Amino acid sequence: MSGERIERTRILGVGTATPDHVVTNDDLSVVMETSDEWIQQRTGIRERRHIEADCGATELGHRAALEALAAAGLGIEDIDLILFATLSPDIDWPASAALLSARLGVSRIPALDVRNQCSGFLYALASADALIRAGRARHALVVGGEIHSTGLDLTTRGREVGVIFGDGAGAVVLGPSGDPGRGLLSCHLHAQGKYAEKLWLEAAASRKRPRISRADLEGDDPAAFPRMSGRYVFKHAVTRFPEVIHEALAAHGLGVADLDVLIPHQANLRINQFVAQALEIDDAKVVNNIDRYGNTTAASIPIALCEAIADGRVTEGRLVCLAAFGAGFTWASALFRW
Ligand code: UT7
Repeated sequence: MSGERIERTRILGVGTATPDHVVTNDDLSVVMETSDEWIQQRTGIRERRHIEADCGATELGHRAALEALAAAGLGIEDIDLILFATLSPDIDWPASAALLSARLGVSRIPALDVRNQCSGFLYALASADALIRAGRARHALVVGGEIHSTGLDLTTRGREVGVIFGDGAGAVVLGPSGDPGRGLLSCHLHAQGKYAEKLWLEAAASRKRPRISRADLEGDDPAAFPRMSGRYVFKHAVTRFPEVIHEALAAHGLGVADLDVLIPHQANLRINQFVAQALEIDDAKVVNNIDRYGNTTAASIPIALCEAIADGRVTEGRLVCLAAFGAGFTWASALFRW
């Protein structure tokens, strides 16, 4: 805990970890009724990564975190807060953040999970930013990590969701900006729980006894796998994304024309194309990599951010907006002067 008042935070380093094993649309066509053409046309996904040997989200998160620390030029001893955004924790409890702290070999610093699905990374980032600015921490490790492949119904019954999700992790180190002109300008978070059942994973559930049953696994519409009203979610996504991006820009007297880079959550390439059109922003300013990873929920934004830094799209001085929409419904944005 630093005690020092910090006015503005900045991302000091980023890292990613994705499994080596690539699963193409044709690979999925072997196990379910689908096609490369359908998946590419409806989602823009060409392939995604699935782990080969079973492991939890913290294993990928750990690799991403080490890369982010190295990029920031910091050691784990410099970190005094860990936030882990995931909808696929290694185990139900304790938190993946606690398991990650053990992997990192730290003890006693606070570690907590953020369970906010596709918006989870931005919720975690906003929380870390607030805690640092309140003097409760100096350097925070913010990780988004997911293992979807062990929890998908990869048969025709589950194809609407099964073809979309992929495994991966991304991490950032957040710390004092050191330059009032640079860093995280603001975060904007929203939730509307009345739409929970439009995209959810119902079992195992504490409101049921037993929490998971054979029917949850084997029924026609099994509650033990993620279920989604795809079109409904799509319609909300294309409205909420532009709204929350405008909200972030307006908070600083800025407009879309000022934006250099937009990094949206990667749920569907068509959603991001609709959003670009609604904002009237040049496609070249929008970072998309869903073709290679599918939807990695809480990991998608830090993975895309890491790639955009590596390929020179995100550089010092640029105005960068991160935005997410997903289950809950929850949605969020974070605006940076990089
Ligand atoms: O990250 C969290 C937020 N998630 C999202 O934002 C996802 C939002 N929704 C979507 O991206 C799209 O709704 C999907 C990609 C999930 C689905 O695309 P769609 O164009 O909305 O298709 P649909 O659900 O209306 O289904 C059209 C047809 C159906 O067949 P019928 O009823 O017309 O005979 C589906 O059964 O496509 C069928 N279908 C498939 N066919 C081949 C559904 N999934 C598949 C599949 N392969 N994987």
